[in-house]
Amino acid sequence: MRTDTAPTIYRQDYAPYPYRLPQVRLEFDLAAESTRVRSELRFELAPGSAPGTPLVLQGEDLELVEVRLDGRPLDAGEYQLADDTLSLIPPGHGKPFTIGIVSLCRPAENTTLMGLYVSGDKLFTQCEAQGFRRITWFPDRPDVMARFEVLLRADPAAYPLLLSNGNLIEQAALPDGRHQALWRDPHPKPSYLFALVAGDFDCIERTETTRSGREVLLQVYSDKGYREQTRWALDCLARALHWDERRFGLELDLDRFMVVAARDFNMGAMENKGLNIFNAAYVLADPDTATDAAYRGIEAVIGHEYFHNWTGNRVTCRDWFQLSLKEGLTVFRDQEFSADMLAEGLPPAEAASARAVKRIDDVHTLRLAQFPEDAGPMAHPIRPDSYQEIGNFYTATIYEKGAEVIRMQHTLLGEAGFRAGMDEYFRRHDGQAVTCDAFVDAMESVYAQQNPGQDFSVFRRWYAQAGTPRVRVSSHYDPAARTCRITLQQQCAPAGLEVLRTPPVEKPPLHIPVAIGLIDADGQPMPIRQENGTRDTLILELRQASQTWTLTDIPRAPILSLLRGFSAPVILETDRTANDLALLARHDPDPFARWDAVQETAHRHLQDCMRAERDGAQPPALDTLLAIWRAALDDQALSPAYRTRLLALPAVREVIDRSEPMDPQAAVSAWTRTRQALGARLAQDWRAMYDSLVDEGGPYSPDPVSSGRRALRNLALDNLLAGKAPGAVDLALAQFRQALNMTESLGALTALLQHAPQDAAGPLADFHARWHDDPLVLDRWFGAQASAPGCTVAGVRALMALPDFSLRNPNRARAVVFRFCLDNPGNLHTPEGYDFWAEQVLALDALNPEIAARLSRAFDNWARHEPTARAGMQAALQRVLAAPSLSRNVREIVSKALG
Ligand code: PHE
Ligand code: ZN
Repeated sequence: MRTDTAPTIYRQDYAPYPYRLPQVRLEFDLAAESTRVRSELRFELAPGSAPGTPLVLQGEDLELVEVRLDGRPLDAGEYQLADDTLSLIPPGHGKPFTIGIVSLCRPAENTTLMGLYVSGDKLFTQCEAQGFRRITWFPDRPDVMARFEVLLRADPAAYPLLLSNGNLIEQAALPDGRHQALWRDPHPKPSYLFALVAGDFDCIERTETTRSGREVLLQVYSDKGYREQTRWALDCLARALHWDERRFGLELDLDRFMVVAARDFNMGAMENKGLNIFNAAYVLADPDTATDAAYRGIEAVIGHEYFHNWTGNRVTCRDWFQLSLKEGLTVFRDQEFSADMLAEGLPPAEAASARAVKRIDDVHTLRLAQFPEDAGPMAHPIRPDSYQEIGNFYTATIYEKGAEVIRMQHTLLGEAGFRAGMDEYFRRHDGQAVTCDAFVDAMESVYAQQNPGQDFSVFRRWYAQAGTPRVRVSSHYDPAARTCRITLQQQCAPAGLEVLRTPPVEKPPLHIPVAIGLIDADGQPMPIRQENGTRDTLILELRQASQTWTLTDIPRAPILSLLRGFSAPVILETDRTANDLALLARHDPDPFARWDAVQETAHRHLQDCMRAERDGAQPPALDTLLAIWRAALDDQALSPAYRTRLLALPAVREVIDRSEPMDPQAAVSAWTRTRQALGARLAQDWRAMYDSLVDEGGPYSPDPVSSGRRALRNLALDNLLAGKAPGAVDLALAQFRQALNMTESLGALTALLQHAPQDAAGPLADFHARWHDDPLVLDRWFGAQASAPGCTVAGVRALMALPDFSLRNPNRARAVVFRFCLDNPGNLHTPEGYDFWAEQVLALDALNPEIAARLSRAFDNWARHEPTARAGMQAALQRVLAAPSLSRNVREIVSKALG
């Protein structure tokens, strides 16, 4: 929908729907050009509503054929058709009544990929958040839950398979040559969980026995010819099913659970009841076509959507402001699932380090995507107070910060307490549409039992407050008293547009669990004495602006290991010296805090480099970082996966984000020079590492040990090329030629493109020749080029001119346009780069506003940049805002950015 004005929706304005809708029947006459939908909606007055209250249904881009009330056709005067609503006054008797509607929609013309749309030669739906209204007029809001019966009719030659939610009741051929399938979903659900799929697919399936002994059928559907690429996804699905039973006591509530891969999809995947629809990128994998990271990504997303069946579907959201109720919780659950899968079968010490690798990756994502969001014009609490377009609020804050807020509750309650809280949540709310408070209430009921006299009243502020809190840590050691005093102070600056508010926004203190440990100057852990024994890690529960703790019986001056396991989503400010960090970087027994000490050291070095360059001074010495890296390279006790994390420089985007003012060109240059220097100085170590990690043969497996070895080997190759080590290019070319799997092949190709583009032409051509028919692999080919420092705006335009390119396919647009705008800062931050961004936002907006709005977020933080970048980005934003027609999605983002 195109509009010049975008009304703001407020959480405070929530009012319950005046009717209940126990039963829905839908009949579809499916065809790509025009699909006819006949609905029968059985309404009852909700308790507390007056008979005759107007009934309002939403509809968008639909053609109305007829409306009936209790079977009687209504004429145009008996209902009102406005822009996006159909309303009528139901009979005044207050008894149940039935509305029948016939309408048409046009899937083939639907480039938004919301509602019913065509992908390839198949039909798919996407209804979250408000796509169902593009299928038929309906009370399209999550607190209206109905039992759905769905009849699908279509030409069997074009659409041999007809799928919808729940159970298949019957299938039949029709006299007119078409066929039909009837589906019934036994569970009441909101419209956003509706789905249908029609087309020709390959399918693999297996049965699993649930904890209570029921047999359930698991199926994965994919494009014809891709059956062999769905085995890993099916395997992940079975593991997710059993994990949710073991860890949370939650069992599958359906006889059949289907996953379908779609080539055109706006997001990762969608948890429609019993019929999950996935972006093909999160289903298809085999060793030749998918990287190790892609395997893990599939596991995470399969888990995520499966876990939604309880956290999202059985208990759903009252309104879209509560989105984090299902998303934050489900991200937490998928993170735990992935961590458990990495640790499975390992002895305890190794299991902890395997889980830490997942934790590091998740925190890295949070810092890369959520921290900047929380400091920019789109900053919002995990439960927002207002929005213009809900599609813009599927954010890192709702998802990733939301998961951190759940994780803190897990930390405060412990595993058993958290489980008790989850049980209580389902006991109270199964089958309901609730608010975030319902979840916290359930957790609080356990916490109050564990900690008499205490509650979550301070903790709840995490749901209401935007911005990343800063926690200042200071400590004082008293050798005579053998005590260490630790003071924590918290503070949260106004976030994003809050700066503009008068009176200033109040930010009361939050309840922040800060996990700490102590080590001595030799790197030995120092136990902390508590009333009930000693421990290595202590959780300080900060609830006030400032609090002090005194630790006793500390024999020597300690060095503080802080925020172990990243116990809270905050930014630390400490007076730790470079030496303290270097010690932690080698000896902190907490693998997360150890990694963080290395990161912090690298960050400080990179900022020093930028400062030196600006002042025309000598670049800072690399010695400290070099010594830490050398130690990590030599430490055979560490798993390869963990070493890969220790030896990774912070992403360029993080470096840009830390600079004040943000200076992309200076950050890119400091980053590039540091990589080069590190690579050159450690060339021998990297070469030895590279040679020692050669694939030992045997069939491919994505397990953490072998994938860790491949990751570390690719990192070694990348460093050798970055450092221009003699023979590095030949090594990369050989790896590309002899690659046994996509991880090796893409690792070599990427390293060449990054550091030796003149030598990449041959491999690029070979790669294209082999893979141009496989869309997901071709996305890799595009993405590796679009994100290479040698790819200028002219280069990215050349990629877009290729016949393989299309802006309509979101995966392809992401591989080229998004990769350039997000992962190629050196070329984006040029006058041509800014023009390119504006042009692509507008081109995408005409096709797919959800995707366009995501791209438009790339300039959120323009105002924090140095003057040249700042002016260029501002002008580009103004150009977009001035465009003659703009979706509500992009308008909200761009107008908020400009403030
Ligand atoms: N609910 C989906 C998930 O997080 C994400 C999604 C949102 C997909 C909107 C499509 C559209 O699992
Ligand atoms: Zn989700």
